[in-house]
This record gives sequence, C-alpha cells and structure tokens, in this order.
Amino acid sequence: MKLELVVAADEERGIGKGGDLPWKLPGDMAFFRRLTTGDGDNAVIMGRKTWDSIPPRFRPLKKRRNIVLTRQDIDFGDGVISASSLDEALAAAEGGHRCFVIGGAEIYRLALAHPHVGVVHLTEVEGAFGCDTFLPAFPACFACVERGDRQEDDGTGYRFTRWAS
Ligand SMILES: NC(=O)c1ccc[n+]([C@@H]2O[C@H](COP(=O)([O-])OP(=O)(O)OC[C@H]3O[C@@H](n4cnc5c(N)ncnc54)[C@H](OP(=O)(O)O)[C@@H]3O)[C@@H](O)[C@H]2O)c1
Repeated sequence: MKLELVVAADEERGIGKGGDLPWKLPGDMAFFRRLTTGDGDNAVIMGRKTWDSIPPRFRPLKKRRNIVLTRQDIDFGDGVISASSLDEALAAAEGGHRCFVIGGAEIYRLALAHPHVGVVHLTEVEGAFGCDTFLPAFPACFACVERGDRQEDDGTGYRFTRWAS
C-alpha cells in the first residue's frame, strides 16, 4: 500500500506549536476531511501526540480506520488500533482503500524514509507562525506535481499542492 502524507506547513515548514495547530483554517480542515474520508475504508495513521491534540469529541476520526503509533501500552478506545511501528500500522491498514499519514513530525519523518512513501498532500500556508515542530525534508527525488489556486481563511492565505517522485 502506498503511503500518502497529508500536512499543512508554513513558510518555515512549521506544522505545530505547543502541541497544537498554529492556525485555524476551516477550508483546509474540510479538504483534509474530504481527502482522508474519500469513499470509505481509508486508514489514518498518526502519532500519539497528534491523537492527543484532537479534541475528544472529534476522535476517533469518523468513517476512517484510526491507527495510533505509540511505544506505550495505551487503550485509545473502541475501534482505534494501536501500533508499535510504522510497518505494524501499515499492516493494520491493509485491505482498506487508501492509507494516509496525518502527522506529526515524528511520524512524517518515519513515513518519508519508508520505501512505500508515495505522495505528499501539502497545504502551503503563507507566513511564519513561530512553530516548535517542523516538517522533515522530502526525498530528493520529490517535486511539486500539482499546485492549486490561492485560498484564504480569516486573512491567512494557503494553497493545496501535491508532491511525488
Ligand atoms: N500541520 C499539520 O498538518 C499537522 C498534522 C499533525 C500534527 N501536527 C502537529 O504536530 C505536533 C505533534 O507532532 P510530534 O512530532 O510532536 O508528535 P507525533 O508525531 O504526533 O507523535 C509522537 C509520538 O508517536 C509515537 N512514536 C513515534 N515514533 C514511534 C515509533 N517508531 N514507534 C512507535 N511509536 C512511535 C510516540 O508515542 P509515545 O510517546 O506514546 O510512545 C511519540 O511520542 C502537534 O503540534 C500537532 O498539532 C500538525
């Protein structure tokens, strides 16, 4: 199964601040929901800290196989799969339709070094938000293959782009 990363990053490749997202972009949230839900039975793989950052009323993410990477023995609740390695997470996604890696930085780093990395859906956010967590570099063979029109939410501009080898 191909790994598809979904991430929003600012002009400094910042993705997070204080354990949360540094911006509020409803248009990007809607894009994320549409893409990762698709026609059903897609998996979303995330790190435990990203799981923690999702408000309890929104998790597990609906209509998707939620797979959380942790080295601890944690029960994330009904229907949520806990995995102790990216390969174990991938195995749990098998049989489904698409497999999305949704962060954070530690898990993006693992995915970008994995032989099954296929594509990155990157929302390029304009500006610099003083982040403390950053998107690791893409493989050298990756290039931007699609670049959408400029969007704007509440004065913050952004674009949907797609990167692949
Ligand atoms: N802008 C975006 O698109 C976006 C998307 C997602 C997240 N974020 C932001 O990114 C930040 C969180 O990222 P982060 O890098 O700090 O944390 P993270 O990647 O979400 O989670 C890290 C945790 O994953 C587990 N883990 C890491 N490597 C593992 C491995 N090889 N095997 C098993 N488990 C492993 C560990 O959990 P345990 O400690 O439980 O062992 C580790 O503490 C937050 O600010 C969040 O809001 C931004």
